[in-house]
Amino acid sequence: MNIDPIVLGFLGRALSFEFSAVQQYLSLSKLLLAKGLAAESEKFKQEAQEEMEHVERIIARLIGFACAPNASHLRPAKLKGSLVEVIKNTSQLEMDIVTLYDSAVSYCEKQGDVENKLFFAALLKEEQHHYEEMETLVKRVTQGNLFESHV
Ligand SMILES: [Fe+2]
Ligand SMILES: [Fe+2]
Repeated sequence: MNIDPIVLGFLGRALSFEFSAVQQYLSLSKLLLAKGLAAESEKFKQEAQEEMEHVERIIARLIGFACAPNASHLRPAKLKGSLVEVIKNTSQLEMDIVTLYDSAVSYCEKQGDVENKLFFAALLKEEQHHYEEMETLVKRVTQGNLFESHV
């Protein structure tokens, strides 16, 4: 199947972002575990698994287009600062992913590429949810009613 090189570019950037999100969430999970917060650690481990499922979807799509996956821009995990700063960095990563999928959906819409639009729109919806979850967490940590004895 022929693929629009711009769509291929979106898929490549998406794969780099999704691997970066796996790395960020797993790092955050292990950081919390090291602080003795096992339940909170587990929550971020589950987030990492959701991101891994996105990685799988994108790789399957690239393979479907006979393209070898090539995630070449892995972002380092951002773990410096207080817990609220780390979660804010995670939220920013989610917002960057939302922006990418939003652009991909708009592009596919303009091209009349319904199939790829639906593919990116499903990811966009899930990433918007992740972003909202992180923003809620930032508020809860800031207000001191979460991890309060550890921050
Ligand atoms: Fe994701
Ligand atoms: Fe996400």
